[in-house]
Amino acid sequence: MENFDFNNPVKILFGKGKISELANQIPINAKILVTYGGGSIKNNDIYNQVMANLHGFEIFEFGGIEPNPTYETCIKALDIINDNNINFLLAVGGGSVIDATKFIAASANYVGVDSWDILAKSGEVKKAIPIGTVLTLPATGSEMNGNSVITKKTTQEKFAFGSPFVLPKFSILDPEYTYSLPKHQVANGIVDAFIHVMEQYLTYPSNSPVQDRFAEGVLLTLIEEGQIAFSTDAPNYENRANIMWAATMALNGLLSVGVKSDWATHQIGHELTALHGLDHAVTLAIVLPGLLMQKRDERSVKLLQYAERVWNITDGTDTEKMNMAISKTEEFFKSLGIKTKLSDYSIGSDTIDKIINRLEKRGVKKMGMQQDISLEEVRVILESR
Ligand code: NZQ
Ligand code: ZN
Repeated sequence: MENFDFNNPVKILFGKGKISELANQIPINAKILVTYGGGSIKNNDIYNQVMANLHGFEIFEFGGIEPNPTYETCIKALDIINDNNINFLLAVGGGSVIDATKFIAASANYVGVDSWDILAKSGEVKKAIPIGTVLTLPATGSEMNGNSVITKKTTQEKFAFGSPFVLPKFSILDPEYTYSLPKHQVANGIVDAFIHVMEQYLTYPSNSPVQDRFAEGVLLTLIEEGQIAFSTDAPNYENRANIMWAATMALNGLLSVGVKSDWATHQIGHELTALHGLDHAVTLAIVLPGLLMQKRDERSVKLLQYAERVWNITDGTDTEKMNMAISKTEEFFKSLGIKTKLSDYSIGSDTIDKIINRLEKRGVKKMGMQQDISLEEVRVILESR
């Protein structure tokens, strides 16, 4: 994941009604391709609001981007772009639409033979069509980072790439745009954001008191606001605004500046989505508790800090405190309605074998940015779930 670029930040327009500033963010002569997903924006009026605020621009549309977007869908947009000289992409949706749009933007300018190589072979992105976003699902942070995760349907592979060229020029974050989300997607967003923070925080000490407290602030906010979101039926503006802001802050690169990050939970989770189509956040809620337990003793300094500062756990032996923190974490995911065991999704040991084999074939020997998780440990983690 790319760190926060202090010289090239994404312009964030946050708050109710900010869509009215949309046209001012886009170059006057832009030929715009509006990208979107399976149609939620047409049921909740967001599509109408976007179109009304693009009056006067030449507009084309590319809908039908699926959750966990595929390479096969994305490349279909390239013909529209080439045939119509599109020079601006506006993504309206959640992480999937934004990620797909980033990949489309990079693919349109890719000089190699096949833009899948950007994902599979770290093919270099040297240029991309500029992007703006209108966010409808707070979760991934994609609205404020240069990352994108794409799946190849034919091979069931899910890979990520990151490039400063696909950083959005601007993102509109209106908390009211999240009101139409089904509850399980609100939960997914909270859990995904929570685990983004954990992957940048719960590793090894690196003399980062400021980043640590930023991270703990986002975690505490997500716990508090998650509970509010799930104890009330009607969406509440302050609650949705806080969740949206927390999710954006969780993965805009700021928390990872100067700290030891991980991303192994994500890497393992992507395999589960690629093979079984599980929602991204669900895979993380399955893997993280197992990973924390497996690395408990090596990561004890941060785990004890997390136990005390986030969950107020001060009594007991160190081992008891760490176990309690891991179990509180899992209980939090469950309190949002997310099931955390592989068996809850009828996934068995054959999938674990398959994942280990696939990783071996790709030449993966160790995992995590600290390279402290062996494939044998990945197996133990998955078998414990
Ligand atoms: O397709 P539409 O009709 O838009 O419906 C979507 C989709 O079915 C729906 N939805 C979105 N906003 C809505 C809404 N429904 C009602 N009202 C609204 N306001 O929600 C469903 C899920 O949307 P999706 O975009 O797939 O969810 P999310 O934002 O969680 O994105 C998940 C994808 O992002 C990747 C994941 O791997 C996954 O592919 N990630 C991207 C990252 C990044 N770019 O930095 C980091 C993350 O770790 C993650 O890997
Ligand atoms: Zn994630």
